[in-house]
Amino acid sequence: MERRDVRGHYEELAAEYDEHWVYDPNYVPWMADRIAEALRLGPTDRIADIGSGTGLFAREVVRQVKPRRPVLCVDPSEAMLRQLGIPPPPDLTPVVASAEDLAEGRASLPYKELDAMWLKESVHHLADPAHTLRGLVGRLAPGGRMLVVMLPATIRYPLFEAALARFEELQPDPADIVGRLRAAGLEASLTHVEHELRIDRDKYFGMVRARYMSLLSTFTDSEIEKGIEEMRAAHPEPVLVFPDRFAFILGKRGGEGA
Ligand SMILES: C[S@@+](CC[C@H](N)C(=O)[O-])C[C@H]1O[C@@H](n2cnc3c(N)ncnc32)[C@H](O)[C@@H]1O
Repeated sequence: MERRDVRGHYEELAAEYDEHWVYDPNYVPWMADRIAEALRLGPTDRIADIGSGTGLFAREVVRQVKPRRPVLCVDPSEAMLRQLGIPPPPDLTPVVASAEDLAEGRASLPYKELDAMWLKESVHHLADPAHTLRGLVGRLAPGGRMLVVMLPATIRYPLFEAALARFEELQPDPADIVGRLRAAGLEASLTHVEHELRIDRDKYFGMVRARYMSLLSTFTDSEIEKGIEEMRAAHPEPVLVFPDRFAFILGKRGGEGA
């Protein structure tokens, strides 16, 4: 088995990352709306997207919420952040840093405290989630909110069997993240949101070949091709329809406005 490092994986994926999602015009606005609603975002909030990647969702949150100060897009991958635009739009500020850098105070931010932050599909990259989430909670203002958006422990994607099995091995359990946020002093709860994905079959095979999920980078090229053959046999239909279900773990810090 060949395992590419996480940084290398996103450096390679960066340029085409957004293309994987724009074919469904409803998905990004729908998700951004769910994020803004869960965090109760308002125009006066100081907001950060941790592990923002290309800023696909931050851009849409900005469009919906119109915050007075730029949303901070924090990510260790310069290649992903470059996709924000050069120069970046005035309402998004790229910050090249990991969640760990922020948690440990190694990265300085333009805001002393944050009113709201979210981590969408980046929590599985944290080496020590308990420690790092605690550090991130320390950057919240009184009444601040943190949202972790992640896939559940099992998924119903039309992937090949070995990929689904590996996903279950690697994916942290959302219930554990709830426990981590509570241990860090937040009032935390878990809910789920679901969106039906409809993807042209060949397009999806192309996404798998491009390793659109980081877990696919743990397979060699020949394992991926074998996997796609398995998917081709299991899914003769021209359009794949499947539920994309996300766990939403919301933590709130006590204090004014909580
Ligand atoms: C699956 S992508 C998600 C990007 C974006 N949140 C989205 O939903 O489109 C995961 C992102 O996490 C970033 N990442 C990897 N390790 C990280 C870390 N230790 N701290 C913060 N972000 C990290 C990667 O560079 C990548 O941009």
